[in-house]
Formats: sequence, C-alpha cells, structure tokens
Amino acid sequence: MSTRHTHSPKTPTTMLDRALSARRPASHSDSDFPTDASSADPESHSGAADESKTKRPNLALLITKYLSRLGHPQLCIPCPFLVPLLCLLVSFILLFSLTLKSRSLVCVSSYDPISRAGFFGFDGLDLDFGALGVPWCRSKQGKTVEWTSKDLIKGLEEFVPIYETRPIKNNMYGMGFDHSFGLWFITRWLQPDLMIESGAFKGHSTWVLRQAMPDKPIISVTPRHPEKYLKKGPAYVDANCTYFAGKDFVDFGNIDWQKVLKRHGISDPTRVLVFFDDHQSELKRVKQAVKAGFHHLVFEDNYDTGTGDHYSLRQICDQFYIRGGGHSCFRDSDEARIRSKRKKFWAKAVDVDELCGPNEAWWGVRGEMLDDFNKNHTPISYADHFANSRFIESVLDLYWELPPVAGPSLTHQTRYDPARTPIPIVEDGRYGVFQRLGLGRLETSVFNGYTQMVYIQISKPGKSVS
Ligand SMILES: C[S@@+](CC[C@H](N)C(=O)[O-])C[C@H]1O[C@@H](n2cnc3c(N)ncnc32)[C@H](O)[C@@H]1O
Repeated sequence: MSTRHTHSPKTPTTMLDRALSARRPASHSDSDFPTDASSADPESHSGAADESKTKRPNLALLITKYLSRLGHPQLCIPCPFLVPLLCLLVSFILLFSLTLKSRSLVCVSSYDPISRAGFFGFDGLDLDFGALGVPWCRSKQGKTVEWTSKDLIKGLEEFVPIYETRPIKNNMYGMGFDHSFGLWFITRWLQPDLMIESGAFKGHSTWVLRQAMPDKPIISVTPRHPEKYLKKGPAYVDANCTYFAGKDFVDFGNIDWQKVLKRHGISDPTRVLVFFDDHQSELKRVKQAVKAGFHHLVFEDNYDTGTGDHYSLRQICDQFYIRGGGHSCFRDSDEARIRSKRKKFWAKAVDVDELCGPNEAWWGVRGEMLDDFNKNHTPISYADHFANSRFIESVLDLYWELPPVAGPSLTHQTRYDPARTPIPIVEDGRYGVFQRLGLGRLETSVFNGYTQMVYIQISKPGKSVS
C-alpha cells in the first residue's frame, strides 16, 4: 500500500482503503502523530526558508529555560547551593535582557491571555504539548493513517485559499478553521462515494464537504433546514444534497440506511464517510454506525475528559492504561497542581474540582455520560466506563486525532490546553511557514474552535470482535 499522497484524485477502487496503513504499528504511547509532526520539514515543499527555525534563539528564553531546569524559572531563588555565582550572573543577564524588552518580570498569575503572551513572549517557546498526556483509543491492529505531516502541510497550502471563499464568514457555534481543514483533508484523501453529515447548522460543514468532493452526493441530517438561516444572513444550501431536515428530520439512529443508500445507488456502506457534529453521545453514534455497516467516521467535537456536552471518544478511551488517561481526584497530586496552574491560561483546561464528581468519579464529565447537548446526563460507574472503552476498542481499526493547525503563539488561540493536545501541524516558532501558508491572513477567532476532531475506522463486517 502506498504511503505517499500524490494529490491526484484517487481511483474509486483504491480510495477508501488508502487511509489504512500498517506501515507503522501504533505504540502504546499517546499517538503516532506527534512524532511525524515534529519531524515535518515543510520547507521542502516550497523551497521557502523558515527564518524562525534558523534565527538565533532568544537569550532571555534560553536562560529562562536553563533556570527552569535548576529550579524556579522566574525568581531563581532555589538555585543550587553550589552555583551561586553562576546564578547571580545569569540572573543579572536575565534581568537586563527582560528589562530591555519591557516584559513582565516575575509572575504569570493573570487569567488574561495577554499577560501570558507578555510573559512568555510567544517566541517559539515550548508550550508543553502533550505534557499531561493525550488520551487516544487503541485499535485492534494498531493501524494508523497513511498521510504524514508533510501531506497535512501541503493540504493547508491548498485549503487556506479555499477557506477564504467560504460563504459563512462568521460561523460562531459551528466549525472554525482547524476542523474545517481536518474535515476537508480527510474527505479528500478518502474520496468517498457518498458523504453523510449529522448536524449541519447553517451549512458550513456541508460546504466544506462539497469543496472536498465537488461531484459526490451528500446527505445532511439536521433538525432545522439550513435554508431557514438564509433569511437572516449567510448560510449554505447544497444542490446535490438530500436533507433530512425540518419536517423531514429523522435522527441518524432511526434512519433505514440500507434503504437510503440503495436510493443513492450505494451498495457498499464502507465507501461512505459519515461526519458527526450533532453533539450526541459518540458511544451511541458508534453503535448506530456499526449497525448500519459504516466504516469511516469523523467526530467534530471530541471533547477532553471533564469538558463538553456529550460523551466523546476521547473521554471513553481515557483509561489508566493510556498515557494521560485515568485521573486522581487527590488535590495534592502533581496532576492537580499542574491542572490548576494551566486553568489560568487556557479556557478549556479543567482543574480537579471540575474533573471530579461525587465519589471521586473523574470519567466522562464528573462521572456522567452526557448526551444531546447535555440535555441527558447519566451517572455511570467506572466499571461501565471501562466496559465502554473495551467496546470501542473491539470495533476500532484506527483512531486519529487531528492536531491543531498551528501553535498558540502563531494563532493566538486561548482555549485548548496544549498539555492535552498533540503537537500542531505548524509548530510554535515556525512563523515563516505560518505566513507562507497564508494562515496569517485569517482572523484569530477562526482558530479558537479546536476540540480534537477525530477520524476513526470501524472494523469491516466480519472483522469485529465483541
Ligand atoms: C454545532 S452545530 C453544527 C455545526 C456545523 N456542522 C458547522 O460546521 O457549522 C450542531 C447542529 O446539530 C443539530 N442537531 C441537534 N440535534 C441533532 C440530532 N439529533 N441530529 C442531527 N443534528 C442535530 C443542531 O440543530 C445544530 O444545527
């Protein structure tokens, strides 16, 4: 199986299966992706040099990093007893350098992201991506996607100008840039015969699917028809889309998919891509998709444990045996201390008080399985939660979380916590690449919607183990 993406359209016979690759078995660490991402060499695609990678590192930053290894990064009080002279000298240089730059000198205690940026300088600083672990779902064969970080960079280059033509410029409550790119990239790579979306809102995701596959049919399942929004402002209604909307709305789980696919001339459900952005329990949706024989699923909101309004795959797979999985509600633990600090900086970070419900239940959202925009919340035992992860693992061939498109020092996003996130496609400090890809032209607000979009493959019928 090829491991290279040529960007030429795939032939129908090879398309959906191309997403699979056994070339790199999954380790039982977080994810295969960060390794790929960190070894990306985006310049090789354009010949354009990324100056930020080659310029001399900031002196203050280097010293701060050195001091942080010795002890407290800002005050330098607990310097090792044996190196007082070095500490004094380094402190002097640090103070001098920081004073010159008029930056906040000591504390980073504000909730205001601006003061965080003021302190860190956003100069290519290591923002601790994955420091608290990035839970992921194990798949049976340890397969991973065949695309690489270079493919993602190439995709970004192509997608930014497309995104700039979007009909709905302000898609508040819908997808931002990161997930729009992810959905477009995955869809275009897989080349499905039919696309199904559940949860369309004003139609932005329908538009994204259409950009990826100009000629293939779409089925959109959403309670309110996107044309209703047209009366008030921008919306997108697709000419080659069958809408289960308005009076025709039927929940994804109640649709007779065999009949509907047949009507669309599709005999093989594994050649269909299903995209969920309907804020329903992902456990429920996976079970329904398995029943219908679907193979390729994308979930837009793959919320981290303790956050969000529905039980997500990431929450389900957050288990003790996964790095970053399983949590302690003990307030004096290292994790608790780190979490409470990070909560000050990142809007979506949660501390242990938010993470834990009654009886130290940390799974799901405070021990509850949420569904339907948090309208239903069911307390579940840890045994139930564990059984749910075993079920997911038993039907899963592949799990891939989209990384954020670029680091927070570039996008100025202030919501997701890098400590629970895979390394971005364009890493912090790669300002040249960020600009070359045109990402700098986009409004900052479009980068604030990242919630770990995930692509999964369900085992084909006959391959699943219960
Ligand atoms: C976050 S919005 C979708 C945003 C859209 N995908 C986009 O990118 O702009 C969630 C949508 O799910 C719809 N929804 C609610 N319950 C649903 C259900 N059971 N099935 C499908 N869609 C549902 C809501 O009406 C809303 O339009």
